[in-house]
Amino acid sequence: MRVAVVGGTGDFGLALARRLVEAGVEVVIGSRDAERARAKAAEVGAASGAANEDAVAGVDLVVLATKADAALPTAESLAAAIGRTPVLSVASELRFTKEGVYPTDDARSIAERTQALLSGPVAAGLHSLAAASLAKGPAEGDALVCGDDAEAKRLALELAAHVVTGRALDAGPLASARALEGMTAVIVNLNRRYKGHAGVRVTGLP
Ligand SMILES: NC(=O)c1ccc[n+]([C@@H]2O[C@H](COP(=O)([O-])OP(=O)(O)OC[C@H]3O[C@@H](n4cnc5c(N)ncnc54)[C@H](OP(=O)(O)O)[C@@H]3O)[C@@H](O)[C@H]2O)c1
Repeated sequence: MRVAVVGGTGDFGLALARRLVEAGVEVVIGSRDAERARAKAAEVGAASGAANEDAVAGVDLVVLATKADAALPTAESLAAAIGRTPVLSVASELRFTKEGVYPTDDARSIAERTQALLSGPVAAGLHSLAAASLAKGPAEGDALVCGDDAEAKRLALELAAHVVTGRALDAGPLASARALEGMTAVIVNLNRRYKGHAGVRVTGLP
């Protein structure tokens, strides 16, 4: 599988790239700055680095890993370059306050809003994987992935299985991203309260 990580220079994208390279996946790091992409690609042993619009060319799956508030504008600006290639959305829209971290007030998830901007299918997942954990090795626990398109979800599950100690689990349609993105607020609140990097492990499944 050949995967482009758009915004792959950041904490999450770079940690994800590191784990995928380790698993033998061909990774292209994308950035707004091609030179930065090349430097980060060399750092993690990725196949190459390129400007985001070039990075997405000819890949099997695009991971949209820019900082969360840039996810929608980036998807919109890359829509033509991405074409019908499947996209994995990992973003969660959070509001940070002194009292706690809150999920978005928007009824639709970022993943669903991303889907509305692209002609190809969008899957969502990996929200519960902390970049800090992923940077050190496969993230402890399971990865939850959702989507309406079977092939996009299969690719996202295949990718997810490479980067967790547990299982990559199919959490249903893309609308499940509302819960997965909202759960990120829960996880960040747990991290703040208990000073850790919480993950998720699902019990009771065969
Ligand atoms: N951090 C985590 O533990 C974690 C866990 C699960 C999911 N996620 C999700 O992963 C995504 C990335 O998180 P992160 O913590 O890695 O974020 P980050 O380090 O703040 O940013 C990632 C990359 O986004 C790009 N970027 C920044 N502003 C941009 C803009 N205005 N337009 C286009 N690209 C821009 C930058 O790349 P260039 O400057 O090189 O273009 C940057 O390296 C988010 O959607 C987040 O919700 C994060």
